Amino acid sequence: MDHFQYRNGVLHAEDVPIPDIAAAIGTPFYCYSTATMTRHYNVLTGALDGTGAKVCYAIKANSNQAVIRTLVELGAGVDVISGGELTRALAAGAVPGDVVFAGPGKTREELVQALALGIYQFNVESEPELRLLSALAAEMGKVAPVSIRVNPDVDAGTHEKITTGRNQNKFGIPIGRAMEIFELGAALPGLAMLGVAIHIGSQITDLAPFEAAFDKALGLIDELRAAGHEIRRCNLGGGLGIPYGGETPPAPAAYGAMVKRMTANRNLDLVLEPGRVLVGNAGILVARVIHEKHEGRRFVIIDAAMNDLIRPAMYDSWHDIVPVLAPAPDAVLAAADVVGPICETGDTLAKGRDLAPLAPNDLIAVRSAGAYGAVMASTYNSRPLVAEVMVKADLFAAIRPRQDIDDLIALDQAPPWQQTIFA
Ligand code: LLP
Repeated sequence: MDHFQYRNGVLHAEDVPIPDIAAAIGTPFYCYSTATMTRHYNVLTGALDGTGAKVCYAIKANSNQAVIRTLVELGAGVDVISGGELTRALAAGAVPGDVVFAGPGKTREELVQALALGIYQFNVESEPELRLLSALAAEMGKVAPVSIRVNPDVDAGTHEKITTGRNQNKFGIPIGRAMEIFELGAALPGLAMLGVAIHIGSQITDLAPFEAAFDKALGLIDELRAAGHEIRRCNLGGGLGIPYGGETPPAPAAYGAMVKRMTANRNLDLVLEPGRVLVGNAGILVARVIHEKHEGRRFVIIDAAMNDLIRPAMYDSWHDIVPVLAPAPDAVLAAADVVGPICETGDTLAKGRDLAPLAPNDLIAVRSAGAYGAVMASTYNSRPLVAEVMVKADLFAAIRPRQDIDDLIALDQAPPWQQTIFA
């Protein structure tokens, strides 16, 4: 459930009419609902009640500091994937002791940064990374808390580009090699080999792959413990899907019940790294219609584009598109492609959607855009990054102002032999 609902025919974010925000901020803009994020966090943690699980929000899904802060204030830790995300999370109020550092390519500088801070856990993904972390920790006189990310070779049944747990994917250490890596880690200096981590992909809409992967991870933990390793932690990753259109992902309650059933009486500290399920349906992208064009097909050309929301172009993903003013009950719906102004056909946000006639300046909302929306935006076609807005009850505020075109072009620097231009 989200808090983007029509009231008297006008789409609202919580108690704020979307047209009010558009009038104040201009378009396009991302709009996030505090109540929805709060609800999603509480539903998920409620489903895990009694497990003691540490929920570390994967900030890659939406790293605006106001969003991170909202979840941190509710009690979330954070999952980061880069030194930049680590710095950002701390700036937003996360504490090092609640940070999990994931990712297959952590650099020396990033490992040093995290070691110096004293984070909760490194999810180590390869033997070279383990050796580097050991050397750096020993040099710095630190002990790195490590979980080994294993690749369980389970197909998550999601889009090819976001499945991560099959043996041909770049992630983790093949589960068959895990014992050897734990032996190595136990022998190396500067490491505390604490746990096993998995993450098999994103937008997973079925419990079965989670269950298969958890089963393998827990089986490995049993083997490791039998071999004398004191495994205390199990990191179950993220990946729980959300409804964008017709999907019926497992409810957090079902997911939580499965986690409880599988991990009961195992004496493990659980960590979860959810991203999308917390913020995906807590955000919309609001755009304005530039005009309609009817040439064989009906195109609705809007002022948002693939640079603002890349997911349809990149993953063929579906996002519901709704008019901000509900159409009259007798309005005739007709199929339309909703497209942006960018010069490539991939700049199509939606195809063949039944929409009432739209006039220039009408507002539309692209739903379920809170996760992997603003964070994946670019300035392609010299389009400044759009504004981001957060709503809380009847309040709204820009949490990132629209980028200014002058600021954007000022980032380029003239080489010395072109001193006369870029003036
Ligand atoms: N943990 C790790 C190690 C991850 O790689 C990810 C996401 C997560 C947690 C959070 O997964 P979530 O709960 O959000 O599914 N840009 C793509 C999604 C990429 C996901 C990358 N990893 C999209 O727009 O669908």
